[in-house]
Amino acid sequence: MSDPNDLAAFLGQCWQHLGRGVADAKSPARYPTLATVSPDGRPELRTVALRRADVADAVLEVHTDIATPKVAAIKSNPWASFHVWVPRSDLQIRAVGNVDIITGPEVDADWERVPLASRVSYGTEPVPGAPIGHAFDYQKPATRDRFAVLRCHLQQLDLVHLGEQHRRAVFVRADGWAGQWVAP
Ligand SMILES: Cc1cc2nc3c(=O)[nH]c(=O)nc-3n(C[C@H](O)[C@H](O)[C@H](O)COP(=O)(O)O)c2cc1C
Repeated sequence: MSDPNDLAAFLGQCWQHLGRGVADAKSPARYPTLATVSPDGRPELRTVALRRADVADAVLEVHTDIATPKVAAIKSNPWASFHVWVPRSDLQIRAVGNVDIITGPEVDADWERVPLASRVSYGTEPVPGAPIGHAFDYQKPATRDRFAVLRCHLQQLDLVHLGEQHRRAVFVRADGWAGQWVAP
């Protein structure tokens, strides 16, 4: 068995799961919970699909419709958290960072890679969250201009491993992700 006291290996495991989440729709890291703070200061959570996990830059990306309330939340407060629970590895990942909302030509390549059938996720009319009279009183045109990439520059990762003896470590960008064991 690998050294349980190895911080770098622990962090490596986390990124392996995040990478798998992007590549494999069946991975538990595919659908993290994303938390933001609403403009009136309330916590908000929702499921999202993980689209990019870049260990070198410590960046996570998701795609969204700019008309969704989460975008208004991020505009008023760029801090966000991702939560993933990986049952088979008994690992909880919490990632905190600041989010850039990227639209326009910079995300042309991302839009091109969105399957045609999925493009209807961007452009719902009336806008997501608007009251409607009947459950199906909406249209889902694919609207290129509503497509955005949320790029989260991670500042902290908090990992909890439930083993015979639990382990928890906090890693921060500020010290180059060296990591610090903390009491679980
Ligand atoms: C399995 C699953 C995956 C989802 N993936 C995304 C996603 O990648 N991006 C997104 O904006 N919404 C996604 N949603 C919808 C969000 O959970 C949410 O309902 C919607 O984005 C509106 O959120 P908001 O009102 O907090 O902005 C997903 C929902 C589910 C159930």
